[in-house]
Amino acid sequence: MRTQVAIIGAGPSGLLLGQLLSRAGIDNVIVERQSAQYVLGRIRAGVLEQVSVEMLDECGLGARMHREGLVHHGIELLFKGARHRIDLHDLSGGKSVMVYGQTEVTHDLMDARKVQGLATFYETGDTVKLHDFDGARPKVSCVQDGKAHEIECDFIAGCDGYHGASRASVPASALKTYTKDYPFGWLGVLADVPPVSHELIYANTGRGFALCSMRSPTRSRYYVQVPLQEKAEAWSDAAFWDELRRRLDVEAREHLVTGPSIEKSIAPLRSFVAEPMRFGRLFLAGDAAHIVPPTGAKGLNLAATDVKYLSAALIEHYRHKSDRGIDDYSRKCLARVWKAERFSWWFTSLMHKFPDAGDIGQKLQEAELDYLVSSRAASTALAENYVGLPL
Ligand code: APR
Ligand code: PHB
Repeated sequence: MRTQVAIIGAGPSGLLLGQLLSRAGIDNVIVERQSAQYVLGRIRAGVLEQVSVEMLDECGLGARMHREGLVHHGIELLFKGARHRIDLHDLSGGKSVMVYGQTEVTHDLMDARKVQGLATFYETGDTVKLHDFDGARPKVSCVQDGKAHEIECDFIAGCDGYHGASRASVPASALKTYTKDYPFGWLGVLADVPPVSHELIYANTGRGFALCSMRSPTRSRYYVQVPLQEKAEAWSDAAFWDELRRRLDVEAREHLVTGPSIEKSIAPLRSFVAEPMRFGRLFLAGDAAHIVPPTGAKGLNLAATDVKYLSAALIEHYRHKSDRGIDDYSRKCLARVWKAERFSWWFTSLMHKFPDAGDIGQKLQEAELDYLVSSRAASTALAENYVGLPL
């Protein structure tokens, strides 16, 4: 078969790109290793910047998000046993964030693709191969249900995450990668209990970081920092709630409602960037090109802005016969990516207990947090980054 853009990966990057291209009349095919059900089963972050909200609106997919999502104007920082509110809305000149799970975003995008009858090959396993993207006629091949397919295309969009085939197809000599692995992970629990507070609480404690987040007024998402070698199965629900409670302030501890976990898993924390993000007719977007630690929830938002730049570049190519956007894609994305990498690394470093930092490390973090909540300039820097820097 033949298409204009072959997209590898049906995560938020691939699905969003597919929507934006289809709306512009650009034909595309998605090839996904897993089943749709499997993709939807992955629990990821749930804070959308305004640009991401606007992109879903642009695709005509914002209705459920605006109905069910929660608009947040602030976050709380908890340290030395007390909470301090950062007024995102006031400090950022009127911006806010939308709490709406990545699972829901993916769901809405998958439903729309299905209704529009756009071609998607699910469950291709590890059979996906990228060919000839350094020439004028790239191809993607895969096997689905034992049947081999070959997709001829003009461009390939590598939206297949950190472990995908796209970045792996690029010769190592053409790629420069930057990596930082953190010596801890996040143990996350999803539970059908009301959130402890109406805003997110980011906690710095002597026992390690904790985060109180939510998916809806009746569904909470909580995390505690744990050593990397811990296993989620070794944590009973009771042990999790007990550890979370110990990391909260007195009032939150009293308000915390516990219940059986629906999901429990440990995610490692990593900073990673691959440069450049384009090789001939192959583009990398989202987690395929960069990973941020989850503190600040930038992963999905960065993926969305990559896709915004990529869709605009491809539309410019087809409509206006100009490759300016294509030639500038990698530079434009990376300028934004590195700023989000810096913010996520800084917020992670400020809020977590590092094994070798000692008591002085804790004291220095507390001094910075004190400064952060008492200086309007410092709070503004946090707020501007949290709601998303301008495009
Ligand atoms: N062939 C086809 N599909 C693949 C392959 C492959 N070889 N390898 C991976 N995939 C699929 C995965 O199964 C997944 O569904 O690519 C998709 C990539 O999705 P994500 O990992 O969600 O990445 P992305 O769409 O860029 O979304 C970025 O999602 O992962 C979070 O933290 C991340 O929030 C950020 C956002
Ligand atoms: C989440 O709800 O999963 C979440 C929220 C904020 C973060 C990270 C994760 O910074």
